[in-house]
Amino acid sequence: MAPRTTRPVGTPTRGTTNPNRLRRMDRWIAAEHGPALRRADAPPVAVDLGYGAAPWTAVELLERLRRDADPRARVVGVEIDPARVAAARPYAREGLSFAHGGFEVPVDGPVSLIRAANVLRQYDEDQVREVWARLCGRLTAPDGLLVEGTCDEVGRRHVWVALGPEGPRTVTFATRLGSLERPSDLAERLPKALIHRNVPGEPVYDFLRDFDRAWAAAAPYASLGARQRWIATAAALDARWPLVDGRRRWRQGELTVRWEALAPRGWRGAGA
Ligand SMILES: C[S@@+](CC[C@H](N)C(=O)[O-])C[C@H]1O[C@@H](n2cnc3c(N)ncnc32)[C@H](O)[C@@H]1O
Repeated sequence: MAPRTTRPVGTPTRGTTNPNRLRRMDRWIAAEHGPALRRADAPPVAVDLGYGAAPWTAVELLERLRRDADPRARVVGVEIDPARVAAARPYAREGLSFAHGGFEVPVDGPVSLIRAANVLRQYDEDQVREVWARLCGRLTAPDGLLVEGTCDEVGRRHVWVALGPEGPRTVTFATRLGSLERPSDLAERLPKALIHRNVPGEPVYDFLRDFDRAWAAAAPYASLGARQRWIATAAALDARWPLVDGRRRWRQGELTVRWEALAPRGWRGAGA
């Protein structure tokens, strides 16, 4: 690891975390990114950026990647709060280390995966593009992946954006179906780039409106269970919105749509 010569990029924020909180994100990463990780010649390096007051999410990311994606995977937990790095170090083990740093990502060379969960929510919306560009610049090309998003405290409701080295690709909604009244319940977990855009005239607002309508129209499926209702909802949405997944992921209470369809108004013109 290179010795630090400059201050970490970013600001320490609240350290709230929980065991198993990011399991839905971990599962999606292993399923969707596993083939790219396995294709890599060198053992893939994944960064859990901003793991929080305790290193649970980094420990679990290592376990899930090794079990479900690539047994060679290594994870580096990166935290901007030095006390949280010191608290995590006793949990270091083969394949898992911890480093003090920020959005510069203090790891030698490009990395296969950066996961930043519940980190950007505490920054300003106008910082998102710059942070994304910086993090995307740290990914291996062409297969590296940045997953940036938000969830509730126990990980029942998530929304995340997946980005490649070139920029944003998709937005995933993931939920514990039994706890869902309507899809727009997920609105409060939108990532920073979208949370302030859930207003009339913005694509994400239209999308959540259509999502709720499709969910209401699929009410007869509720007797077969929330999973069947979600699948019928997704199939209806698929006719109108560019979804990139299918029944296999919908069964998990997920749905992934192209970023361009939800990007804030003016995003493209601003140089995405
Ligand atoms: C709310 S916690 C999230 C913990 C964990 N990722 C989770 O989702 O459970 C956010 C953490 O991100 C850290 N953080 C904020 N900005 C950061 C940055 N630029 N680089 C690294 N860590 C950062 C904060 O210090 C805090 O510990």
